[in-house]
Amino acid sequence: MFVRELTHEGFRNLHPGVWRPGEGVNILYGENGQGKTNLLEACWLFTGARSFRGAKDSEMVAFGGEKTRLSMAFTAGGREQEATIAIQQRRQATLNGVSQPSAAKLAGVFCGVVFSPTHLSLVKDGPEGRRRFVDGAYCQLKPGYVGALSEFHKALTQRNAFLRQCREENRSGGEEMLELWDHALAVAGARLTVARCHYLQRLEPLAAAIYDGLSGGRETLSLRWETQAETAGSPADIARSWLACFQQAHRADMGAGFSTSGPHRDDLGIYLDNKPVRIYGSQGQQRSAVLALKLAEASLLQEVTGEPPVAFLDDVMSELDVSRQDYILNHIEGWQVFITCCEPSPALRATAGQVFSVKQGVIL
Ligand SMILES: Nc1ncnc2c1ncn2[C@@H]1O[C@H](COP(=O)(O)OP(=O)(O)OP(=O)(O)O)[C@@H](O)[C@H]1O
Ligand SMILES: [Mg+2]
Repeated sequence: MFVRELTHEGFRNLHPGVWRPGEGVNILYGENGQGKTNLLEACWLFTGARSFRGAKDSEMVAFGGEKTRLSMAFTAGGREQEATIAIQQRRQATLNGVSQPSAAKLAGVFCGVVFSPTHLSLVKDGPEGRRRFVDGAYCQLKPGYVGALSEFHKALTQRNAFLRQCREENRSGGEEMLELWDHALAVAGARLTVARCHYLQRLEPLAAAIYDGLSGGRETLSLRWETQAETAGSPADIARSWLACFQQAHRADMGAGFSTSGPHRDDLGIYLDNKPVRIYGSQGQQRSAVLALKLAEASLLQEVTGEPPVAFLDDVMSELDVSRQDYILNHIEGWQVFITCCEPSPALRATAGQVFSVKQGVIL
């Protein structure tokens, strides 16, 4: 997977232009606030995902402008392809000249992984980001999973609306109706549980090996999908297990006015030597754990698609010691990589990559 050319217009502070990165390591350096992350963000949108900064689409349109237009030529699936994204109130996309029903349809065509300092929240903050990580990563492997996620959220919204109504109207009873929603949610939820556990089974050995390399074998990383449901058995068994959870929670749910249990409460447990890294990990251990997860995500994509994804490493290297920088650079050899930094370190300068400076939105 290679980005050949990015044409951008009206995107944040970037001056309209065309950027042609190299096939290997691309270093983007410049002072703070010059547009390095903006450039990665523009490329990233072609994965079909939302901004990795959590920005709303409208926030990416240049100040005072009405729309932004991006087009990217890239190599994927062994051929040259082209996609465009336009943001004007909503996001629209074309792929090889064909208009797409939504920009999310680009998922699975152009694949990338991103690591930015905001991703440290993956270990530091609550479970929502970890669920998003696993779900997002799985969507790139199996684009059909987007549909499973939206079906689950639809079922959850409906069940919650019913519970809220019961609470507002101070209605008792309604259990029969609630059971209908239980069923829908259990079936949709089981699809999520199956997918998430399957993904973790494949991700864990890769992440553990990468962490081992990063830490010089000092600690062992392990991952666990933490959920209330049984995770063993067939999808029907898992659905039955969710159904039992929902039924047990009727009283609590009626009281709360929303679904207090379900796959929307699951968590990805990340452990170092069997201790939760969120609680006991040092800064460097937490950073390495996130990097291991992200690089493992990329390795798995490569295993499945047969092509290395593009790696976007925003502000990562500067805070790692030389041996860790070397490990990363060796691990991603042969991949196209974008690395942003203020000042390239000696390890980075030693790579046979291309170097671009970014100044006031201009890439040179
Ligand atoms: N919608 C927008 N329109 C115009 N400029 C914007 C918009 N959104 C952000 N900016 C500007 O973009 C700049 C930030 O760019 P970016 O985050 O890419 O910086 P950076 O080079 O990555 O800096 P750092 O090294 O601090 O991470 C800021 O000056 C900000 O004001
Ligand atoms: Mg930045």
